[in-house]
Amino acid sequence: MRHFLTLADFTKDELLEMVALAQKIKAQTKQKQFVPYMEHQTLGMIFEKSSTRTRVSFETGIYQLGGIGLFLSANDIQLGRGEPMKDTARVISRMVDMVMIRTFEQSKLEEFAAYSKVPVINGLTDSYHPVQLMTDYLTMIEFGKDQNPVVAYVGDGNNMAHSWLMLAAKLGFELRIATPKGYECDKAISEKALSMAQESGAKIIFGNDPKEAVKNADVVTTDTWVSMGQEQEKEIRMKAFEGYMVDNAMMSLAKDEAIFLHCLPAYRGYEVSEEVFEAYAEVIFSEAENRLHAQKGIMVWLDNHRNQEEGK
Ligand code: CP
Ligand code: NVA
Repeated sequence: MRHFLTLADFTKDELLEMVALAQKIKAQTKQKQFVPYMEHQTLGMIFEKSSTRTRVSFETGIYQLGGIGLFLSANDIQLGRGEPMKDTARVISRMVDMVMIRTFEQSKLEEFAAYSKVPVINGLTDSYHPVQLMTDYLTMIEFGKDQNPVVAYVGDGNNMAHSWLMLAAKLGFELRIATPKGYECDKAISEKALSMAQESGAKIIFGNDPKEAVKNADVVTTDTWVSMGQEQEKEIRMKAFEGYMVDNAMMSLAKDEAIFLHCLPAYRGYEVSEEVFEAYAEVIFSEAENRLHAQKGIMVWLDNHRNQEEGK
């Protein structure tokens, strides 16, 4: 049984299969054809951190596939009062058909998966946000940016940066990551991406100069400077990230027809200017909508894979 914990766990072809499924199901949904690919299935959705997009897209997505989503906030379930992750996994996975978790350490997600009887999907950890990157890739396809793109990520070396590393390293495109000194990507994850890139032909460049990274890029992207759980570092981070705002001057260095992506929520006047955000609002909110479609592709792929393994 396969879990969706990082993009590194899948081959390029498998990731492309999930995206193709997402495109097919998106087209069906747009025609109001709600094919019950996951009829009567329950998706448990465990949240240890806040969410708007992840919650709404997974809950709506499983409903449109013929199933139902259970929103399980850590504040309300016994996990939040200290019931171990492994016990939570053994209980919930006997009752539901698939689980999505948003948590802190990647190791907590891995522990849940190790004890789960059903496929587990990473809905964001401190290390990775892989469902967002499948969404971003679907959006790149729709905006014609999937053929040998040059992607520039400007900002914090966080879960989003790490997931861009995995996507580029798997699919084999050029990714330039510019972070302030001291806010670079995790060393082990960066090394893993560089070693995966040798196989795929991806070109991965790390640096501390956002303007250099953005030059002639096809896709420019960023993320909040203060991720969930880092609120107490806000002041120090605001200073460290000076010069990293994606504004008109920075976007003008990218290709004329470049797009700007943002996973949201966005903090205008910090990682992105109001002007850039509004200029690319159509792309950004298509990206947000694509959470719904990309994740249906992932859920149906995992379900199909499980059925094949069980000989169904
Ligand atoms: N991009 C994203 O994951 O948004 P939420 O935190 O609102 O789920
Ligand atoms: N890096 C951000 C992403 C939010 C979707 C965070 O972890 O808070």
